[in-house]
Amino acid sequence: MSTGRSFYITTPIYYPSDVPHIGHGYTTVAVDTLARWHRQSGDDTWMLTGTDEHGQKMLRAAAANGVTPQQWVDKLVTESWFPLLETLDVANDDFIRTTQERHERNVQVFFQTLYDAGYIYAGEYEALYCVGCEEFKPESEIVDGTGAFEGLKVCAIHSKPLELLQEKNYFFKLSEFQDKLLELYKNEPDFLRPDSARNEVISFVKNGLKDLSISRSTFDWGIRVPWDESHVIYVWVDALLNYATAVGYGTDPEQFARRWPAYHVVGKDILRFHAVIWPAMLMAAGLEVPRGVFAHGWLLVGGEKMSKSKLTGIAPTEITDVFGSDAYRFYFLSAIAFGQDGSFSWEDLSARYQAELANGFGNLASRTVAMIERYYEGIVPPPGEYTDADRRIQTVVADAAAAADAAMERFRIDEAIHAIWTIVTELNGYITENEPWALAKDDAQRARLGTVLYTAAEGLRALAVLLSPVMPVATEKLWIALGAAESLGRIQDQPLREAGGWGVLRPGTSVNGLSPLFPRVEQPA
Ligand code: ME8
Ligand code: MG
Repeated sequence: MSTGRSFYITTPIYYPSDVPHIGHGYTTVAVDTLARWHRQSGDDTWMLTGTDEHGQKMLRAAAANGVTPQQWVDKLVTESWFPLLETLDVANDDFIRTTQERHERNVQVFFQTLYDAGYIYAGEYEALYCVGCEEFKPESEIVDGTGAFEGLKVCAIHSKPLELLQEKNYFFKLSEFQDKLLELYKNEPDFLRPDSARNEVISFVKNGLKDLSISRSTFDWGIRVPWDESHVIYVWVDALLNYATAVGYGTDPEQFARRWPAYHVVGKDILRFHAVIWPAMLMAAGLEVPRGVFAHGWLLVGGEKMSKSKLTGIAPTEITDVFGSDAYRFYFLSAIAFGQDGSFSWEDLSARYQAELANGFGNLASRTVAMIERYYEGIVPPPGEYTDADRRIQTVVADAAAAADAAMERFRIDEAIHAIWTIVTELNGYITENEPWALAKDDAQRARLGTVLYTAAEGLRALAVLLSPVMPVATEKLWIALGAAESLGRIQDQPLREAGGWGVLRPGTSVNGLSPLFPRVEQPA
């Protein structure tokens, strides 16, 4: 049971119009890592993910496959989206689907609340719509088509023609929230991160906000407007509300009060929905705005945003089948500055796997455990008198733990991993310099050998704990190999904010044989 402060964090809810790719996996493992970090720090943590199942995109995908939209989403969610979480070892607390009753009913409650408060009115609308984005596009994101789409207006993100929609809609008075939003961004500098996201949103809002069309009447795959059955609620308004309905909005005030407000992690493609429309909706309903929105960058393949619609999508299993889920998590979270774009390549992945995981961390673990087995019959020796070199390792561990925690607070998972990695680098250097294999040949150095191996093992103990939110599988294996599971309990229960202390692993603990944490892999084709 945790007693700490509330930490509620969400992924976007993804469109199950198609199967997941590594971009969806990226956001999901980032959020899972942040959630695991906070959970293991004693915070009252809740991680939500899910699927966004209404709207025209879904209707069309279902029609193209000759099934009803409900059949289509049921199939995709069960066969592809739930399994993604297992593939990537994600420990989410909940999974919301927008076709669930708990969601649909309370979206209507919310909608009625805004209507009753006078924030919704009926009007006429004509604008260019992108079904890929499920959005009426602003001028700045409309470009001239090329090739087959020469002469047409296309979406800057999807490069597909926009559709001119003209209908009677209900509107949300978004324009009334311009000043309040600007005030929010000013008063809460951490509301939008990183700075590039914050600046983009501020200049967008300063340019003026138009009221938002929030219903559609030309199709019915959506949640009905409570007072007008001929309209369904705009899919983005429906989708954003998942963050509230999943934690009891409308039905369970106690749960809602405990969890809300949330931190949202999203790709920068959907920043504006989360940074502008969503807080305005919440303000209109008299609810607290989110704690913060963090927008990460795009995974690029061949220099372009990777996407299924552009046929550059890579399935997460293509990576995990070869390298495992830990390597997937480590690679994307450490190689890309969180908040910036990053290029994916198999060469880079293979090279980092070999250098950092197999040779760096994996080898440090294997040789330390092997030496304790060889020189101390598998029993962790007690440390003797510490020298400056040993104390330096203790400082490195303490500093790394503190820096990692501070970085995680700022959502900079990449910086946290880099801070933790100083332990790997320093310990490998320490072993090379102290040459335990040479000490082992000299009986007079027995106490010194014990100190060196204890230092290495205790450094590994800290590493296992600090890296467990990033690589839950390998670190648990290491934890068991160090014999720590028996003496200290489950790795998931080791308090993260105390991981930088020294002398936690008990001398006398029996280590267990360790097979390579990151085995050699066949080079993928
Ligand atoms: O937008 N690089 O769903 P979606 C990094 N249903 N991340 C990527 C990515 C890439 N190339 N491609 C996708 C929707 N993502 C809405 C969200 S939320 C209330 C509704 C990730 O299936 C990234 O997190 O198009 C991006 O924001 C999200 O997938 C979009 O997923
Ligand atoms: Mg998308």
